[in-house]
Amino acid sequence: MKRLKIAFVASEAHPFVKTGGLADVAYSLPKSLAEAGHEVVLFLPRYYKVDRVRFECVPVGGPLGVPLGCTEKWCGVLMSRAIPGVRTIFIEHDSYFGRDGLYDDGYSAFSDNAERFTFFNRAVLQACMALGFDPDIIHCNDWQTALIPIYIKTLYRFSRFFKKTKSVMTIHNIGYQGVFDKNEIHWSQLGWESYNEDCLKFYDMINFMKGGILWSDAITTVSEKYAVEIQTPEFGYDLSGILLKRKKQLFGITNGVDYGCWDPATDEMIPVKYSSSKMHGKVLCKEYLQFEFGLKVNPDIPLMATVSRLTHQKGIDVLVQSLSDLALRTDFQFVILGTGDQHLIDAFNVLKGSYPDRIGVYWGYSNPLAHKIEAAADIYLMPSRYEPCGLNQMYSLHYGTIPVVRATGGLDDTVVQWNGESKTGTGFKFTDIDRDALSHSVLDALNLYADRPDWEIIRKNAMKFRLPWETAVAEYEKVYSSIISAIPC
Ligand code: ADP
Ligand code: GLC
Repeated sequence: MKRLKIAFVASEAHPFVKTGGLADVAYSLPKSLAEAGHEVVLFLPRYYKVDRVRFECVPVGGPLGVPLGCTEKWCGVLMSRAIPGVRTIFIEHDSYFGRDGLYDDGYSAFSDNAERFTFFNRAVLQACMALGFDPDIIHCNDWQTALIPIYIKTLYRFSRFFKKTKSVMTIHNIGYQGVFDKNEIHWSQLGWESYNEDCLKFYDMINFMKGGILWSDAITTVSEKYAVEIQTPEFGYDLSGILLKRKKQLFGITNGVDYGCWDPATDEMIPVKYSSSKMHGKVLCKEYLQFEFGLKVNPDIPLMATVSRLTHQKGIDVLVQSLSDLALRTDFQFVILGTGDQHLIDAFNVLKGSYPDRIGVYWGYSNPLAHKIEAAADIYLMPSRYEPCGLNQMYSLHYGTIPVVRATGGLDDTVVQWNGESKTGTGFKFTDIDRDALSHSVLDALNLYADRPDWEIIRKNAMKFRLPWETAVAEYEKVYSSIISAIPC
């Protein structure tokens, strides 16, 4: 396809700053689009955590004026080449982004999030103009970037930089929408005329995600099933009606896996590398992790694991209940790496207190440890209430770590239920989000683990799974083409 100019806008990206899977996508997708021949500029806030020296950030141009509320604020514009083939542009403004935390202080959301991200959205458009970058596509991600599609069709409509620009809104998680007091609308300069049902109004508040969905030229979600799910009240978090209205412009494109980062054959973060034809390394990775977590070092005991944000979405409450039941019935070890809700941490700490040599916990964020866990574990548990895509189940498959997942969103799309007769399938799925349903599936996995020949087969099946980013890029290109060639209404 024709080489496009793509502005990719996100609120986090690996390797600069990451709280979840969005950061993985905002690294791999722009990189893969660039590899496919497009000119890609990635825009990010320059949080305090982004190391200017390590990523060789250099200022481009002078200070940039950003209209905001009834005034103008100034920001720095920095560039890094850390992502191959992509220019990463950082918007730097210390009073908005020079603090610990991206969206919250660890307990509650920052009270000025509407102001901070309105500023960021506006700054991105101002920076495009200052850099002389007139994108064919502005690709926005989640609520933190969702005002941009509105701006393109209102305040920037007559700018020569955005005359031909089309916008795409990718929903990574509709559970987070950027809902604020209606008076926060004044930061945007969109005026009270935008406070209506066809734009930002949401009950008596404003909703950034709603605006992005209604005003973008195309909407995508990060798996096919999630695109269908969010059109129902159960998964749509009050936006299902609006998504139904726009269903012709709504596309589900499953995220890919960056095998440059997540491959046990080349992974520098794991103690011993391995591949499907040379699995001994996986045993050593397991022994290493058992030792690190103070568990009994014994490769025959099944080791289960989870790496996750500890939130309601991820079903961690159900996980801890199920593990408490299972611990009374069968022998296993379990390791968890996570950050999030304190009551979930407390619940796991109690479980660990009861089974110190069977349960291992690490409360914090550690990418190297996430890799070590993927390599070491036999079984990966992901009992999400909803999961727009989910990356860890796909990493697990490639590491020969059998996923047990709830059949929702991307988990359902990417894991195939094991069938003992045909010896097909890559993992285990359950439907009801309750402790018994999860325990049942886990027991199925543990039983299969005890049956060595079949376990080898499921592991081989899993390790064959491949979903490279090139597949998703081809789908995004189709969406981009369709909106570029669409006749404006
Ligand atoms: P989500 O974006 O909803 O959190 P995903 O499965 O899409 O879920 O992506 C989560 C990403 O964040 C994965 O790359 C996972 O390894 C990583 N991750 C989550 N929690 C941690 C943690 N505590 N330490 C290191 N990596 C983590
Ligand atoms: C969100 C979703 C997750 C998805 C990720 C990347 O954080 O919760 O399911 O994999 O975004 O798209």
